[in-house]
Parts: sequence; structure tokens; C-alpha cells
Amino acid sequence: MKQNESVLPDEGAKQPYVRDMFDRIAGTYDIVNRLMTFGLDQGWRARLVREMHVGPQARVLDLACGTGDFLRAWSAKGVRAYGLDLSFRMLERAKAYSPLVQGVGEALPFQDGSFDAVSSGFAVRNFADFAGVLSEAHRVLRPGGVLGILEVATPRSRLVRAMHGLYFGSVVPLVGGLISADKSAYRYLPQSVAYLPSDVEFRELMRHAGYIELRRIVVGFGAAQLLIAKRGAE
Ligand SMILES: C[S@@+](CC[C@H](N)C(=O)[O-])C[C@H]1O[C@@H](n2cnc3c(N)ncnc32)[C@H](O)[C@@H]1O
Repeated sequence: MKQNESVLPDEGAKQPYVRDMFDRIAGTYDIVNRLMTFGLDQGWRARLVREMHVGPQARVLDLACGTGDFLRAWSAKGVRAYGLDLSFRMLERAKAYSPLVQGVGEALPFQDGSFDAVSSGFAVRNFADFAGVLSEAHRVLRPGGVLGILEVATPRSRLVRAMHGLYFGSVVPLVGGLISADKSAYRYLPQSVAYLPSDVEFRELMRHAGYIELRRIVVGFGAAQLLIAKRGAE
């Protein structure tokens, strides 16, 4: 397969494709993540947790928790967090003491209003139906509860964007493919930026799902973004 050839699945096949891919790369996910972001990803998670202003008595859901980085960040604050993910192999690798559930963000197995906060890291591009996930997160949040999202972003500066494009489009697939022995997964990663909503689309999708007071914080010289919003009181 050529380097630039699309590996993005057809719309209806996205969820099983993503699940199988994360099942395959679960064993090397953490190390590749740290290398890819030069270890900055942990700081971004800690920043999102801080910016969400959640009290120690809160119940938090980490949606698409993967190997549990956010769960550990919540635990470090003494907050009770629950993890949910599509991929059983990612959950199996989770180094966290939190309760874990295998499931999909588009149909959460929790009652209405059962969480004070919902966090989610690097998963927007992977959801088969992001609008559906926003609506489910809204349903399981109590009125006034907080949603916090960490996702990659496209840097605004032309120079940084060019360097980032080279790194993300060439170096990451090469290194990720070598370490994880799954080349197609690390070709999917840069290509999946095509699924990333623009700033305006993010705002519109979140507003439409019933979120208010949206804040967007850019980190890593524009390579990542934090989106924080509240569930409206209606
Ligand atoms: C890039 S990993 C991020 C893992 C973790 N949140 C982190 O910060 O490292 C994306 C995760 O989203 C999960 N995922 C993808 N689609 C999902 C869905 N529809 N519902 C729940 N989890 C999903 C994948 O299984 C994978 O573990």
C-alpha cells in the first residue's frame, strides 16, 4: 500500500474498524503516544482536569478511556472516575483502579444525570457519530455538569502547521508503524484529521446538543485543544 493511500473506512464500517485497530495496537499505544507528543499529552490531560473545576466528591465518566490515562489523572485528584471504551484490549491494558465498562459512546449504559462531569481524550475523530456521543454525554450529565474534551488540532501559524504536517503525516506513521508493527493504524491517525470538526463546527455541534459556556484552549503550539462546556439547566 502506498503511504498516501486512504485507509479511512466507509461510514458504516467505522466503528468495527476503529475497535479492531485499537485492539491491535493496545499493547504499544502508551509508548507510541508518549513518543508522538514528546510526553506533552500527560500535561494536556492534567490541564483539562484542572480547567474542568470538578470537586473531590464528583462522579466522573471518562468516555473512550483507552488505557486509562485520564482515569489516573482523576484519581490523582481524589475524584471517583468510571471508564468506558469500545476496545476490550485497550481496557485490558488500563492501569487504573476505576470501574471499567466496554461500550460505545453513542449509546451509554448509564442513567440520565448520573455524572457530574464527562471527560474524553483523543477520541472525537474516532467516534462513528460524534453528534450522537455529545447528545449521550449530555443525557448522562446532571444539569450544570461539565464536559471536557482533549483533541488534536491544526496549528494556525503557517510555519508551525507545515512542520506539524510533516511530523504528523510522515514521522508519526513511520515510528508508530515500526513500534506497533501495525502500519495501517498509524496511517489512519494523520488521515483521521479529516474527521475533525472545525472550531465553528465544534461550537455548533456542542450548542446544538445543549451545552453552554463553551471554552476552547489551545495547547502544544496549536497541536492540541481543550474544549470545556457545561450542560445547560433545561
Ligand atoms: C486515541 S484513543 C484515546 C484513549 C484515551 N482517551 C487517551 O487519552 O489516551 C481513542 C479511544 O477511543 C475509543 N473509541 C473509539 N470509538 C469509540 C466509541 N464509539 N465509543 C467508545 N470508545 C470509542 C478507542 O477504542 C480508543 O481506546
